[in-house]
Amino acid sequence: MDTPDQRLLAEIRDLRAKRKAVILAHNYQRAEIQDLADFCGDSLGLSIEASKTDAEVIVFCGVRFMAETARILSPRKMVLLPDRWAGCPMADMITAEQLRGLKQKHPDALVVCYVNSTAEVKAESDYCCTSANAVAVVQSLPQDRPVIFVPDQHLGQFVAKQTGRDLILWPGYCPTHALISEDDVRKAKEQHPDAVVIAHPECLEPVKDLADALLSTGQMIRFVKDSPAQCFIVATEIDMIHPLRKVRPDAEFVPASPRSVCPNMKKITLEKVLASLAGLQFQIEVPEAVRVRAERSLQRMVEILPER
Ligand code: 13P
Ligand code: SF4
Repeated sequence: MDTPDQRLLAEIRDLRAKRKAVILAHNYQRAEIQDLADFCGDSLGLSIEASKTDAEVIVFCGVRFMAETARILSPRKMVLLPDRWAGCPMADMITAEQLRGLKQKHPDALVVCYVNSTAEVKAESDYCCTSANAVAVVQSLPQDRPVIFVPDQHLGQFVAKQTGRDLILWPGYCPTHALISEDDVRKAKEQHPDAVVIAHPECLEPVKDLADALLSTGQMIRFVKDSPAQCFIVATEIDMIHPLRKVRPDAEFVPASPRSVCPNMKKITLEKVLASLAGLQFQIEVPEAVRVRAERSLQRMVEILPER
C-alpha cells in the first residue's frame, strides 16, 4: 500500500513528464522537495541550469527572484513558482528608483547587484553576481571605477575585504542569516571543539570572523565532500544540512542556530508543486523592456565563474 506522500510523488512525476517540465530546487528547500527535484543547487548553479534546460516548463522551487532569473534567461520557457508569495525580503530592500538615486550620486560608478534583487533592479545594474562569484565579478572590474554593490551589505563587506576594494554599499540584509549570532557560533564551537565552521557570506561580520570557510551553498557541498573533518558547524539556513548529509553521511552537522529558517523557502510544499503543474501556476512574467536590460547583467553573471 502506497503512503499519501508516495501517491503525491507519483502524481507529480506523472504530470512532470506530461508537461515536459523540469523541477529546479534551491538548497534551502524542504528535504522532500530537494529529493524530488531534477536539479538542486545554489543560485548560480540554478541560473545556469535554467538557461540551458530544454524542458518546456520550469517549476522553480525557491523564491521569486530565482524564478524571475530563470524567466529572464529563458524567455521562451514557461516558469512556474508554486507559491506566488514566496519572496525574498532582502530583494525588496532596494527599489529601482532608489538605485537610480544612488547612481546619480555616483555617476562614474559601475553597479553590481546581488542576484537576490528584483528584475527592475537587475535592469538598472551593469553586472549581477551570486554569492559564489561576487568576488570574481568585482575583481573583473576596472580598478579606476568606483563600484556600487547592492542590496546585501554583508555580502558586500565580504567582497570588499576579499578584493581590497572600497565598495559603495546599501544597507540591505537577509533576516534569516541575521538571526545567527556570534554567541551562537561561540557556543557551538565550545560544544564541538574539533568542528570546522562553514558560513554563508550573508552572515553578520562577527559570525564570519569565527568561520573557517565562507561559501555559497553550492560551494559548501563541495567543501564538505572534500574535507577530512568529521564535524561541521553550519552557519546558514537550516535545511542546507540535508544536501550536506547526502554527500557526507558519516559526518556530524550542527546548525549554528536552530532559528535560521527562511520562511519563504518553506512556502513550497509537495501539494503546491502538484497544484503548480496541474494548473500551470503561478506563471512568472517580466515586462520585455525590463527583461532585456536585466538579461545583459545576468549574462555577465553566468559567464564569470568563480575559481573552484
Ligand atoms: P546561494 O546562492 O549561496 O545558494 O544563496 C542564496 C540565498 O538566498 C542565500 O540566502
Ligand atoms: Fe532571501 Fe535570506 Fe531567504 Fe536567502 S535566506 S531567500 S537571502 S530571505
